[in-house]
Amino acid sequence: MTIARKLYIKTYGCQMNVYDSERMAEALGGQGYVETTTPDDADMILLNTCHIREKAAEKVYSELGRFRSLKAERPDLKIGVAGCVAQAEGEEILRRQPLVDLVVGPQSYHRLPELAEKARNGARALDTDFPEQDKFDHLSARPKARRGPSAFLTVQEGCDKFCAFCVVPYTRGAEVSRPAERVIAETRDLVERGVREITLLGQNVNAYHGHPGGLAGLVRALSAIDGLARIRYTTSHPNDMDDALIAAHGEVPELMPYLHLPVQSGSDRVLKAMNRKHNAEAYLRLVERIRAARPDILLSGDFIVGFPGESAEDFEATLALVDAVEYGQCYSFKYSPRPGTPAAERPQVPEAEKDERLQRLQTLLRTQQRAVQDRMVGRETDVLFEKPGRTPGQMVGKSEHLHSVFVTGPGIARGELRRVRIAESATNSLRGELLEPMHAVR
Ligand code: SAH
Ligand code: SF4
Ligand code: F3S
Repeated sequence: MTIARKLYIKTYGCQMNVYDSERMAEALGGQGYVETTTPDDADMILLNTCHIREKAAEKVYSELGRFRSLKAERPDLKIGVAGCVAQAEGEEILRRQPLVDLVVGPQSYHRLPELAEKARNGARALDTDFPEQDKFDHLSARPKARRGPSAFLTVQEGCDKFCAFCVVPYTRGAEVSRPAERVIAETRDLVERGVREITLLGQNVNAYHGHPGGLAGLVRALSAIDGLARIRYTTSHPNDMDDALIAAHGEVPELMPYLHLPVQSGSDRVLKAMNRKHNAEAYLRLVERIRAARPDILLSGDFIVGFPGESAEDFEATLALVDAVEYGQCYSFKYSPRPGTPAAERPQVPEAEKDERLQRLQTLLRTQQRAVQDRMVGRETDVLFEKPGRTPGQMVGKSEHLHSVFVTGPGIARGELRRVRIAESATNSLRGELLEPMHAVR
């Protein structure tokens, strides 16, 4: 019999880290670790970290500082750092933070049980290698517990694009795709445990080549799985959006009408300096082709303002592109210089300028997002219900376009997909009414 040990994982950064945290918890499950929701009673604390912007990376050190007193009370407590900060600054973390027992980079999670054992035996352990084999092959099988209706599933990892601002190619390594058979098997397993929607993850998910038909081939294969109602994928690079994938958006009903397609800037000069390898016109044409295949698709994007060399005129070009596209969802950031990336060495835009541009861009994006959301009123959509809402009898779920929809109605269960008419648009959510109170869709 294994001894019960408590594991607390805190996850920062992108959805891939959420998925990785689940897999790490499972891998440590074999050593008797059970997840707990507070660091206070944990035998092991793992911080799964993000290095994308300076603020994200700095959080790790302040969070670690907070564990000092816990460790003083309980010297047996083991503290680990995983994720992209571990990969980028592993050695430095061990130097700066004596209370850290283990450091593990994103490509070494299959070695976590070994590292944990080493740490329990009193040694400090570091593994930030990029091994050849697929780490997921070596992780223990998932325990067969029931789970929520929506799940992430990593199918592609790493990036070969080297945008001039970005640390991901260094922290996640080269592009690797998982074989389609494994993805299909893992999806079946998730569906058996109650999952009805999967989001396929990859840093460049549409560069997926683990299926002869690419990501489109994988999506079509997954759509044949009984009980899987919805498929989403993220994040896509505009240059990897091929005809087959665009066609799938018009033809595969399980593929949801939502696409995260970051462009970063609307200025050709800035796009070139970013090494994005496409211009604004090519992006706009791509958007047109996607909308021709699936007219109601909701587009989402990422923007960086204040990239080195961005002039007032360049920034206006970004606003013009936003106007032309009309996004339903967007994330925008001030450029943050990252050590080891080419753009960090270039002359920087003053902070006050970045602040002002970010505010102007966010105001425009907010207005746009709200307009797109408001247009949903009166329409019908399937909603996949995930959890209780704010009032008794209310449940909240996601629409096909990934809006949060609150619905009050008799007997709506978690994991149910129901037909809803959108009645009202509020800040960041919609309110809907059940159309078929007695019957679930599909
Ligand atoms: N692979 C994805 C996203 C990677 S990171 C893609 O190609 O789009 C998510 C977002 O963080 C990026 O799209 C970008 O908008 C932002 N980002 C990345 N590096 C950044 C930096 N140094 N400063 C500010 N934002 C950054
Ligand atoms: Fe980073 Fe660019 Fe790769 Fe996206 S495509 S992960 S932004 S380098
Ligand atoms: Fe952050 Fe790494 Fe994801 S840097 S955004 S956790 S790939």
